[in-house]
Amino acid sequence: MTIQSGTHAIESMQLEERRYPPPPEFAKNANAKADIYNKPLEDFWREEAQKRVSWFKPFDRVLEWKLPYAKWFLGGKLNVCYNCVDRHVEAGRGDKVAYYWEGEPVDQKRTITFKDLQAEVVRFANALKKLGVKKGTPVGIYMGMVPELPVAMLACTRLGAPHTVVFGGFSADSLAGRLNDMECELLITQNEGLRKGNPVPLKKNADAALDQTPTVKKAVVLRRTPSDTPMKDGRDIWWQDLVKDASTDPKTCPCEEMDAEDLLYLLYTSGTTAKPKGIVHTTAGYLVGTATTHHYIFDIKPDSIYWCAADIGWVTGHSYIVYAPLCNGTTGVIYEGVPDFPDKDRWWSIIERYKVDVLYTAPTAIRTHMKWGPEYAKKHDLSSLRLLGTVGEPINPEAWIWYRENVGGGKTPVVDTWWQTETGMILITPLPGVTTLKPGSATKPFPTVEAAVYNDAGEEVGPGGGGYLVLKRPWPAMLRGIFKDHDRYVQTYWSKFKDVYFAGDGARIDENGDFWLLGRVDDVMNVSAHRISTIEVESALVAHPKVAEAAVCGRADKQTGQAIVAFVTLRGGAEGSPEMLRELRAFVGEKIGKIAAPANIVFTPDLPKTRSGKIMRRLLRDVAENRPLGDTTTLADPAVVSEIDRRAKTEAAKEEASA
Ligand code: WTA
Repeated sequence: MTIQSGTHAIESMQLEERRYPPPPEFAKNANAKADIYNKPLEDFWREEAQKRVSWFKPFDRVLEWKLPYAKWFLGGKLNVCYNCVDRHVEAGRGDKVAYYWEGEPVDQKRTITFKDLQAEVVRFANALKKLGVKKGTPVGIYMGMVPELPVAMLACTRLGAPHTVVFGGFSADSLAGRLNDMECELLITQNEGLRKGNPVPLKKNADAALDQTPTVKKAVVLRRTPSDTPMKDGRDIWWQDLVKDASTDPKTCPCEEMDAEDLLYLLYTSGTTAKPKGIVHTTAGYLVGTATTHHYIFDIKPDSIYWCAADIGWVTGHSYIVYAPLCNGTTGVIYEGVPDFPDKDRWWSIIERYKVDVLYTAPTAIRTHMKWGPEYAKKHDLSSLRLLGTVGEPINPEAWIWYRENVGGGKTPVVDTWWQTETGMILITPLPGVTTLKPGSATKPFPTVEAAVYNDAGEEVGPGGGGYLVLKRPWPAMLRGIFKDHDRYVQTYWSKFKDVYFAGDGARIDENGDFWLLGRVDDVMNVSAHRISTIEVESALVAHPKVAEAAVCGRADKQTGQAIVAFVTLRGGAEGSPEMLRELRAFVGEKIGKIAAPANIVFTPDLPKTRSGKIMRRLLRDVAENRPLGDTTTLADPAVVSEIDRRAKTEAAKEEASA
């Protein structure tokens, strides 16, 4: 078993003895009490579905499980936008704030009530209708963190049009691949985003993508900045022009009645091949699963001010910025920019200003704040915080403790939540009023979720042993497959072991039944809590005309969790140079997105291969993990290259001997 970033986690796990039982006051008022674990699966989810969601027609059955596909809440009819927006207004909560939005420029702020949100969504949905969008029309969305992003998503769900949101940091090629796979007919984008005071050329990327996407006939472009933006006649329309005459009256655009199992959205995620997988999420199970976990895990109260600091372009933002919090009628915060603009205390000023009580972010962000030092948090009154959460990668106990001490004032519980794009909702997590916390452990499966750790032979591993994380029964928000690719769905998740879902993560269970996640066990890297496939980066590199071969792996990185290391052989025996290195990083940035640009590139005359011609990835990983490659790009270190060479020869000799 190869655990890429596991060694640290294992070591720290053995040393980690600290325990944090729930504070008594918190436990007394908590949404989840200990008996929540006692209910049978169908009873639990039937009750939650009735409590948390409004149905146009009630469901007849809770679950149909025909491995490897589950259906939930069969026969039920509902609309996600109705649940997230309209019903709150109808119930007299229209003046409650849905989102506090902060633009990256400090003087740009908006307060959006549920009534405002309804008006904007209805207006935009009416405008989309004029462009021919209706139930079933696939729509692509490529935007930054502006309020119009959730508005666009909700307008689609109002009409029953499935969307795919593509993270604004992805390149034109990545965007085109996704639009083509889903056969989108329309793209919603914006002229520019903002990042650290600089424009992000979203429309320019979109233009390059749309040259390669024959199915996309129209592009709606939100004007975010005053810059000049070329518009293509007959294809591009300004958002602001489009909505001018559209009605904001909800009666002019009723919420489409959707079946429980109708497609809600696709979200593409990296797998172990170069082609991203279109993860399928449907309507009712997804909404019930995310709203329920949001309520119990984040202990959401009617007056909560909740901030999930992820990007809406990732699943964390879909589930826990948009759909779950709005379904629960929660007030949320959306921040457009980076944490150090204009200074490193931006996050803490936001928490102080809105009196945020729940903060949810990724370990990589916490480590960045750690590096900057606690003085930035100290400048602000963070006493409103009651609860902290993390997601996206294993959290090292040191960062966990830092977060609790310096952000949570040494008193707040910290919930480390494990889940995936595929799972749609959090599956392994503490419940803050019930669970005794252990820094570095995601603790227990959520009620009704059955997780286990298997060894290579497919046997369940007892307490203390490491192995592969599997899930033994369905949960409402689980993926309903990979879009247009049944075989890959079966192959990826249901073939490694019989009848259980294989998550692709290594894990360990301790003597109390608590789970410790150990990182990916496949060829997927986790950089700043983003999934990137090694093969995807390799294919991008070899697409460069000067590259003969490339092998990519992750190495542990203090800040980003993992960092990408590329070993590259140039064509014609050319030697690497600093220019070449910059060129390749930029090239990968263009092909996939900046987050996929290797931190280190090692130019080597040959890649180490087995006799059968397979690149010895494990060896390269080893080299990458154990050599001081530096925090940023390093050029070929002769010592590294000769080590690769020497070790490859030893390996080959071993193979020879055993043949
Ligand atoms: C990793 C993000 C350890 C894991 C919601 C998983 C975690 C992948 C945790 C999914 C956690 C997520 N502890 N590892 N609390 N949360 N992961 O699809 O490797 O972007 O398989 O979904 O992130 O990443 P994805």
